[in-house]
Amino acid sequence: MNLENKNDLKKKAFEILSDGVKNRDSLFHTLTLSTIDRGKIDSRVMVLREFIAKKRYLKFHTDQRSKKIQEIKSNPVAAVIGYDPAQKIQIRLQGNLSFSHQDNKTSEAWNASQHISKKCYSVKSGSSSVIKSPASHDFHIKDVNLEEGYKNFSILNFYFDSLEFLYLQRSGHRRCKFVWSKNKLESYWLVP
Ligand SMILES: Cc1cc2nc3c(=O)[nH]c(=O)nc-3n(C[C@H](O)[C@H](O)[C@H](O)COP(=O)(O)O)c2cc1C
Repeated sequence: MNLENKNDLKKKAFEILSDGVKNRDSLFHTLTLSTIDRGKIDSRVMVLREFIAKKRYLKFHTDQRSKKIQEIKSNPVAAVIGYDPAQKIQIRLQGNLSFSHQDNKTSEAWNASQHISKKCYSVKSGSSSVIKSPASHDFHIKDVNLEEGYKNFSILNFYFDSLEFLYLQRSGHRRCKFVWSKNKLESYWLVP
């Protein structure tokens, strides 16, 4: 990676995101996704399930009953951030979210999911409900019909139109922003 070359930085960012999908040891396998909750920022960690560079698309799985689904119904604006101290690289993305529920896309992803992942969607009441005690919602995988969880399974589709790459180094950090507007790309250096 040539740190003075903007294209190299973009390529590196895309490689990191691609690697983050399959590589469980990558710190970009779990990213922080932020949405807007009635004027307040709401952030949470999520597993990156897919990245399609050409479409500037990131996929996440979640529970249809979760708070974030309600949030994006009223405001689809979202941001994603990840940082790896070993690589000294931070990647920030801004874009929009939509969700898929009970369609071809979700059924394909559901069928490819492991049992342990399916289990989360069988939890009673749904994620984010207020409960009296946490243990009241514990259950064993053998006590539920995992396929029942499909109705709660949804996909978050994140399309980004800006990517900011920050590389930390003693001799001088490198910070570069890429912005896509109607598929036209502009990029510029920023004071780190
Ligand atoms: C390492 C890690 C991975 C997580 N992965 C997911 C995920 O892929 N999907 C998800 O919905 N929640 C995931 N969570 C839980 C979320 O961070 C969050 O607590 C939950 O989705 C409820 O968020 P909400 O109330 O904003 O909807 C993960 C949490 C951690 C710590």
